[in-house]
Amino acid sequence: MMYPERFSNLPAHAWPRLRALLDAHEGGGTPIHMTIGEPKHAFPAWVTDVIAENAAGFNSYPANDGTPRLRGAIAGWIKRRYAVDVDADTQVMPLNGTREGLYNAVMATCPETKNGRKPAILMPNPFYQVYMIAAISGAADPVMVPATRETGHLPDFASLPEDVLNRTTAAYICSPANPQGAVATRAYWADLIALAEKYDFKIFADECYSEIYRDTPPVGALQVAQEVGADPDRVVIFHSLSKRSNLPGLRSGFVASGANTMREIKHCGTMPVHRCRYRCKRRRLRSGTTKPMWPRTARFTSRNTRSPTVFSATSPGTKVPRPGSFCGCRWKMTKLRR
Ligand SMILES: Cc1ncc(COP(=O)(O)O)c(C=O)c1O
Repeated sequence: MMYPERFSNLPAHAWPRLRALLDAHEGGGTPIHMTIGEPKHAFPAWVTDVIAENAAGFNSYPANDGTPRLRGAIAGWIKRRYAVDVDADTQVMPLNGTREGLYNAVMATCPETKNGRKPAILMPNPFYQVYMIAAISGAADPVMVPATRETGHLPDFASLPEDVLNRTTAAYICSPANPQGAVATRAYWADLIALAEKYDFKIFADECYSEIYRDTPPVGALQVAQEVGADPDRVVIFHSLSKRSNLPGLRSGFVASGANTMREIKHCGTMPVHRCRYRCKRRRLRSGTTKPMWPRTARFTSRNTRSPTVFSATSPGTKVPRPGSFCGCRWKMTKLRR
């Protein structure tokens, strides 16, 4: 039987690799779960009520583009959160989660060649693995750009050679960033948008951690695109309820961009997976109850507030970056390597 070669040199997923590293070391003490991408807090209690109330709808497929009411609620949230007007019918589409949308964005919107050459897709390093799989699936070269202390823990895409930028079709960027916790400032977004306009590539803004912050809501990519008067088709934003509402198992998110980019995403993206399974959202929105599906809740978890204290004995200098969703321990990998 034959299998494709295209993914054959991909490393295993991050967690099995980390586990293999840790297995060589003696256990002991209370385990501290480092898989911090998954929220551990309770989700809003009303979610289960709404699912139960709407169970009867599970015998039919949800609409590919989501219901008008759900799209309207998403557009309303974008307006409240970012002061950006998006058309609910043409600029928004519900997703099962950002993961699916981030992957499909390449298939739907990245051309097969750029300036007669194999395309490049930029991403930060470290990065969420879907970015790389998407680039390879889309027959592009994944180009990893260091996001280190020296670069403010965000990639400096402008430092890439002209040769690479000229064949770049898209750049993934995560803000607040997983795992670094860095937040792209207004100036960072403006510079990146200017670079994307100059070299004609799209920005895939993974903003799934956008609602986890301590005091100031992180500025959004679409918001800055509007402020600088950029083409909204250039910026594609991805959000979900997974982190903000502690609902990774629900699989509910959205993608938004300009109408042209969204036309391509809807055209290709709805065929393989883009469906919002939970019709229950519609009823909730219709009922007009006080809890909107996309509440703006700033969550700064106590787990992360405690992190510097927990790690201070073994890891002086542990930092919790501004959004408060992550903590960085410089000692971690050094210890494992010994
Ligand atoms: C950076 C980043 N992007 C996207 C996702 C996918 O989240 P979801 O598909 O649940 O929205 C994750 C999940 O851990 C993540 O860490």
